Amino acid sequence: MIIVKSAPDLEGMRASGYIAARVRDAIAGNVQAGVTTGELADYAEEMIKGFGAESAFLGYKGYPSSICVSVNEVVVHGIPGKRRIEVGDIVSIDVGVRYGGYVGDTAKTVMVGTCDPRVAELVKTTEKCLMEAIALAREGRRLFDISHAIQGTAEAAGFSVVRQFVGHGIGRDMHEDPQIPNFGKPGTGPRLVAGMTFAIEPMVNMGRSEVEVLDDGWTVVTKDRKFSAHFEHTVAVGKDGAEVLTL
Ligand code: MF3
Ligand code: CO
Ligand code: CO
Repeated sequence: MIIVKSAPDLEGMRASGYIAARVRDAIAGNVQAGVTTGELADYAEEMIKGFGAESAFLGYKGYPSSICVSVNEVVVHGIPGKRRIEVGDIVSIDVGVRYGGYVGDTAKTVMVGTCDPRVAELVKTTEKCLMEAIALAREGRRLFDISHAIQGTAEAAGFSVVRQFVGHGIGRDMHEDPQIPNFGKPGTGPRLVAGMTFAIEPMVNMGRSEVEVLDDGWTVVTKDRKFSAHFEHTVAVGKDGAEVLTL
Protein backbone atom coordinates (compact mmCIF):
# COMPACT_ATOMS: atom_id res chain seq x y z
CA MET A 1 0.00 0.00 0.00
CA ILE A 2 1.35 3.41 -0.95
CA ILE A 3 0.95 5.84 1.96
CA VAL A 4 -0.23 9.33 0.97
CA LYS A 5 1.31 11.83 3.38
CA SER A 6 -0.63 14.57 5.17
CA ALA A 7 0.55 18.19 5.31
CA PRO A 8 2.16 17.64 8.75
CA ASP A 9 3.85 14.48 7.45
CA LEU A 10 5.31 16.50 4.58
CA GLU A 11 6.55 19.14 7.03
CA GLY A 12 8.38 16.38 8.90
CA MET A 13 9.83 15.01 5.70
CA ARG A 14 11.09 18.44 4.67
CA ALA A 15 13.05 18.57 7.91
CA SER A 16 14.61 15.11 7.60
CA GLY A 17 15.25 15.69 3.90
CA TYR A 18 16.99 18.96 4.61
CA ILE A 19 19.37 17.32 7.09
CA ALA A 20 20.11 14.40 4.78
CA ALA A 21 20.94 16.81 1.96
CA ARG A 22 23.26 18.94 4.11
CA VAL A 23 25.15 15.86 5.26
CA ARG A 24 25.33 14.48 1.70
CA ASP A 25 26.82 17.71 0.38
CA ALA A 26 29.26 18.15 3.25
CA ILE A 27 30.58 14.60 2.91
CA ALA A 28 30.70 14.83 -0.88
CA GLY A 29 32.72 18.03 -0.44
CA ASN A 30 35.24 16.12 1.65
CA VAL A 31 35.83 13.43 -0.93
CA GLN A 32 39.39 13.81 -2.16
CA ALA A 33 42.40 11.68 -2.94
CA GLY A 34 43.96 10.24 0.22
CA VAL A 35 40.88 10.21 2.44
CA THR A 36 39.47 6.83 3.48
CA THR A 37 35.82 5.91 3.18
CA GLY A 38 35.81 5.22 6.92
CA GLU A 39 36.95 8.77 7.67
CA LEU A 40 34.06 10.09 5.58
CA ALA A 41 31.63 7.97 7.59
CA ASP A 42 33.05 9.18 10.91
CA TYR A 43 32.50 12.76 9.84
CA ALA A 44 28.98 11.95 8.65
CA GLU A 45 28.08 10.29 11.93
CA GLU A 46 29.26 13.35 13.85
CA MET A 47 27.38 15.73 11.59
CA ILE A 48 24.12 13.73 11.73
CA LYS A 49 24.29 13.76 15.54
CA GLY A 50 25.00 17.49 15.41
CA PHE A 51 21.61 17.97 13.78
CA GLY A 52 19.97 15.95 16.55
CA ALA A 53 19.15 13.28 13.99
CA GLU A 54 20.19 9.67 13.61
CA SER A 55 21.41 7.58 10.74
CA ALA A 56 18.65 5.54 9.15
CA PHE A 57 21.26 3.05 7.95
CA LEU A 58 23.23 2.17 11.09
CA GLY A 59 21.83 -1.14 12.31
CA TYR A 60 19.31 -1.42 9.48
CA LYS A 61 19.17 -5.20 8.88
CA GLY A 62 22.56 -5.22 10.59
CA TYR A 63 24.21 -2.63 8.33
CA PRO A 64 27.37 -1.57 10.20
CA SER A 65 27.83 2.12 9.28
CA SER A 66 26.08 5.48 9.21
CA ILE A 67 26.36 6.04 5.45
CA CYS A 68 27.13 4.09 2.30
CA VAL A 69 30.25 5.00 0.31
CA SER A 70 30.43 3.22 -3.04
CA VAL A 71 33.61 3.61 -5.10
CA ASN A 72 33.94 2.86 -8.84
CA GLU A 73 32.72 -0.71 -9.46
CA VAL A 74 30.70 -0.60 -6.23
CA VAL A 75 27.12 0.17 -7.22
CA VAL A 76 25.54 0.78 -3.80
CA HIS A 77 25.83 -0.24 -0.13
CA GLY A 78 29.60 0.15 0.04
CA ILE A 79 30.62 -0.21 3.69
CA PRO A 80 33.02 2.55 4.78
CA GLY A 81 36.40 1.29 5.90
CA LYS A 82 40.06 1.42 4.96
CA ARG A 83 39.67 1.99 1.21
CA ARG A 84 41.56 5.13 0.24
CA ILE A 85 40.11 7.41 -2.43
CA GLU A 86 42.31 8.00 -5.49
CA VAL A 87 42.32 10.50 -8.34
CA GLY A 88 40.09 9.25 -11.14
CA ASP A 89 37.68 7.49 -8.77
CA ILE A 90 33.96 8.12 -8.66
CA VAL A 91 32.43 7.99 -5.22
CA SER A 92 28.74 7.68 -4.33
CA ILE A 93 27.80 9.12 -0.96
CA ASP A 94 24.40 7.81 0.20
CA VAL A 95 22.94 9.37 3.35
CA GLY A 96 19.76 8.40 5.18
CA VAL A 97 18.67 10.18 8.32
CA ARG A 98 15.75 9.84 10.68
CA TYR A 99 14.53 13.04 12.31
CA GLY A 100 11.22 13.77 14.01
CA GLY A 101 9.97 10.33 12.99
CA TYR A 102 10.62 10.73 9.26
CA VAL A 103 13.36 9.51 6.98
CA GLY A 104 15.22 11.36 4.23
CA ASP A 105 17.40 9.36 1.82
CA THR A 106 19.69 10.92 -0.77
CA ALA A 107 22.86 10.17 -2.72
CA LYS A 108 25.20 11.73 -5.19
CA THR A 109 28.25 10.53 -7.08
CA VAL A 110 31.30 12.77 -7.23
CA MET A 111 34.39 12.54 -9.42
CA VAL A 112 37.81 12.78 -7.82
CA GLY A 113 40.02 15.05 -9.90
CA THR A 114 40.09 14.31 -13.59
CA CYS A 115 38.21 11.18 -14.62
CA ASP A 116 38.11 9.24 -17.85
CA PRO A 117 35.75 11.23 -20.16
CA ARG A 118 33.39 8.29 -20.57
CA VAL A 119 33.20 7.94 -16.78
CA ALA A 120 32.36 11.64 -16.54
CA GLU A 121 29.57 11.02 -19.03
CA LEU A 122 28.30 8.16 -16.90
CA VAL A 123 28.06 10.42 -13.87
CA LYS A 124 26.38 13.25 -15.79
CA THR A 125 23.93 10.88 -17.42
CA THR A 126 22.94 9.29 -14.12
CA GLU A 127 22.16 12.69 -12.64
CA LYS A 128 20.16 13.54 -15.77
CA CYS A 129 18.21 10.29 -15.32
CA LEU A 130 17.28 11.40 -11.82
CA MET A 131 16.20 14.91 -12.80
CA GLU A 132 14.10 13.66 -15.71
CA ALA A 133 12.46 11.07 -13.48
CA ILE A 134 11.67 13.70 -10.85
CA ALA A 135 9.88 15.83 -13.46
CA LEU A 136 7.42 12.95 -13.88
CA ALA A 137 6.62 12.62 -10.17
CA ARG A 138 3.37 14.56 -10.47
CA GLU A 139 -0.27 13.73 -9.93
CA GLY A 140 -1.86 11.80 -12.76
CA ARG A 141 1.35 10.21 -14.02
CA ARG A 142 1.93 6.47 -13.67
CA LEU A 143 4.73 5.07 -11.54
CA PHE A 144 6.53 3.32 -14.36
CA ASP A 145 6.68 6.55 -16.37
CA ILE A 146 9.45 7.37 -13.86
CA SER A 147 11.11 4.01 -14.38
CA HIS A 148 10.95 4.29 -18.13
CA ALA A 149 12.47 7.77 -18.19
CA ILE A 150 15.48 6.56 -16.23
CA GLN A 151 15.99 3.56 -18.47
CA GLY A 152 15.52 5.55 -21.66
CA THR A 153 18.04 8.24 -20.75
CA ALA A 154 20.64 5.75 -19.54
CA GLU A 155 20.36 3.42 -22.51
CA ALA A 156 20.29 6.27 -25.07
CA ALA A 157 23.74 7.23 -23.77
CA GLY A 158 24.97 3.65 -24.16
CA PHE A 159 24.82 2.71 -20.48
CA SER A 160 22.73 0.09 -18.65
CA VAL A 161 20.47 0.25 -15.61
CA VAL A 162 20.71 -2.02 -12.58
CA ARG A 163 17.68 -4.28 -12.23
CA GLN A 164 18.19 -6.03 -8.89
CA PHE A 165 17.99 -2.83 -6.80
CA VAL A 166 15.27 -0.22 -6.94
CA GLY A 167 14.01 3.09 -5.61
CA HIS A 168 11.23 3.05 -3.06
CA GLY A 169 8.49 4.81 -1.19
CA ILE A 170 9.75 6.53 1.95
CA GLY A 171 8.24 8.19 5.02
CA ARG A 172 8.20 7.00 8.61
CA ASP A 173 10.06 3.98 7.25
CA MET A 174 13.07 4.17 4.94
CA HIS A 175 11.63 1.56 2.60
CA GLU A 176 7.90 1.78 2.00
CA ASP A 177 5.79 0.72 -0.96
CA PRO A 178 6.08 1.02 -3.87
CA GLN A 179 9.28 -0.35 -5.33
CA ILE A 180 10.49 1.95 -8.09
CA PRO A 181 12.51 0.06 -10.69
CA ASN A 182 14.93 1.91 -12.94
CA PHE A 183 13.34 0.30 -15.98
CA GLY A 184 9.73 -0.16 -17.04
CA LYS A 185 6.91 0.38 -19.45
CA PRO A 186 5.47 3.91 -19.67
CA GLY A 187 1.78 4.38 -18.97
CA THR A 188 1.73 1.49 -16.50
CA GLY A 189 1.92 1.09 -12.75
CA PRO A 190 0.00 2.83 -9.97
CA ARG A 191 -1.37 6.29 -10.69
CA LEU A 192 0.49 8.97 -8.75
CA VAL A 193 -1.32 11.09 -6.18
CA ALA A 194 -0.10 14.30 -4.52
CA GLY A 195 1.42 13.49 -1.13
CA MET A 196 3.11 10.25 -2.12
CA THR A 197 6.81 10.41 -1.22
CA PHE A 198 9.45 8.52 -3.12
CA ALA A 199 13.19 7.92 -3.05
CA ILE A 200 14.09 7.84 -6.73
CA GLU A 201 17.54 6.40 -7.29
CA PRO A 202 18.98 5.57 -10.69
CA MET A 203 21.94 3.16 -10.59
CA VAL A 204 23.62 3.24 -13.99
CA ASN A 205 26.45 1.02 -15.21
CA MET A 206 29.17 1.68 -17.80
CA GLY A 207 29.03 -1.90 -18.97
CA ARG A 208 26.54 -4.68 -18.39
CA SER A 209 23.62 -4.37 -15.99
CA GLU A 210 24.39 -7.45 -13.88
CA VAL A 211 25.53 -6.97 -10.32
CA GLU A 212 26.55 -9.23 -7.45
CA VAL A 213 26.81 -8.91 -3.69
CA LEU A 214 30.22 -9.49 -2.09
CA ASP A 215 30.79 -11.90 0.81
CA ASP A 216 30.29 -9.12 3.36
CA GLY A 217 26.59 -9.44 2.51
CA TRP A 218 26.25 -5.76 1.54
CA THR A 219 28.67 -4.45 -1.07
CA VAL A 220 26.95 -4.50 -4.45
CA VAL A 221 29.43 -4.53 -7.36
CA THR A 222 29.07 -4.76 -11.11
CA LYS A 223 29.75 -8.29 -12.36
CA ASP A 224 32.08 -6.94 -15.05
CA ARG A 225 33.74 -4.62 -12.47
CA LYS A 226 33.17 -1.61 -14.70
CA PHE A 227 32.14 1.67 -13.05
CA SER A 228 28.64 2.46 -11.80
CA ALA A 229 27.06 5.76 -10.72
CA HIS A 230 24.18 6.48 -8.34
CA PHE A 231 22.08 9.56 -7.57
CA GLU A 232 19.08 9.74 -5.26
CA HIS A 233 16.55 12.29 -4.08
CA THR A 234 13.59 12.02 -1.75
CA VAL A 235 10.66 13.75 -3.47
CA ALA A 236 7.00 14.46 -2.80
CA VAL A 237 4.53 14.04 -5.63
CA GLY A 238 2.63 17.30 -6.18
CA LYS A 239 -0.35 18.35 -8.27
CA ASP A 240 1.74 20.31 -10.75
CA GLY A 241 5.17 18.82 -10.19
CA ALA A 242 7.44 17.21 -7.67
CA GLU A 243 8.87 18.83 -4.59
CA VAL A 244 12.45 17.70 -4.03
CA LEU A 245 12.87 17.28 -0.28
CA THR A 246 16.64 16.71 -0.38
CA LEU A 247 17.87 19.65 -2.45
N1 MF3 B 1 20.22 4.15 1.12
C1 MF3 B 1 19.88 2.90 0.57
C2 MF3 B 1 18.70 3.18 -0.29
O1 MF3 B 1 18.81 4.12 -1.01
C3 MF3 B 1 19.63 1.86 1.60
C4 MF3 B 1 20.83 1.60 2.38
S1 MF3 B 1 20.69 0.07 3.08
C5 MF3 B 1 21.52 0.28 4.49
O2 MF3 B 1 17.68 2.58 -0.27
F1 MF3 B 1 21.58 -0.86 5.03
F2 MF3 B 1 22.68 0.79 4.21
F3 MF3 B 1 20.87 1.08 5.24
CO1 CO C 1 19.91 5.88 -0.31
CO1 CO D 1 16.96 4.80 -1.17
